[in-house]
Amino acid sequence: MDGILNTIASAIWFILPAYFANAAPVVLGGGPPLDMGKKFSDGRRIFGDGKTTRGFVGGLIVGTIVGLLQGIAEVPLGEHLLLGFLLALGALLGDLVSSFIKRRLDIERGGAAPGLDQLSFVVVALMLASPVKVITWREIAAILIVTPPIHLATNFVGYKLGLKSRPY
Ligand code: CTP
Ligand code: MG
Repeated sequence: MDGILNTIASAIWFILPAYFANAAPVVLGGGPPLDMGKKFSDGRRIFGDGKTTRGFVGGLIVGTIVGLLQGIAEVPLGEHLLLGFLLALGALLGDLVSSFIKRRLDIERGGAAPGLDQLSFVVVALMLASPVKVITWREIAAILIVTPPIHLATNFVGYKLGLKSRPY
């Protein structure tokens, strides 16, 4: 039993920069959209108005800072800093992939895509971090299992605080 809790704790500690990078744009985002209003060949937006340059850069900086703080709390600092950057970049790119797919499926900005909304960011974050740090399959499984409920819970709190217009 204690093995499971340890695995979940170390998995969350590892993926933390991705969580922060995913959440930061809700507060820091706004302004011009990343796709600059451009449409894809299907006539729909590439990413949509929910993906902004400010949100992307803000998320990247916040996630990297979380990695830096982890590096101060636990050696080696350089590895945590690099992981923070890669996990944040992966989280933001994964979130863009999700929006790209949603627009192709004709789901409007902010519309729900169960599974995609909760997991695409951690999947790409794990992919980008994998050359730098090998984590166990148990930790990967833990991340995939605990992320959807954590994502839904934080979004609900963001909605209640008036930061988000939708509770999911
Ligand atoms: N956000 C941003 N820039 C990003 C990602 C997010 O500005 N790169 C901000 C937007 O204000 C967005 C909010 O964070 O509305 C919540 O993010 P998310 O749920 O990912 O976007 P949605 O509005 O749901 O859009 P989509 O349907 O494309 O996922
Ligand atoms: Mg959303």
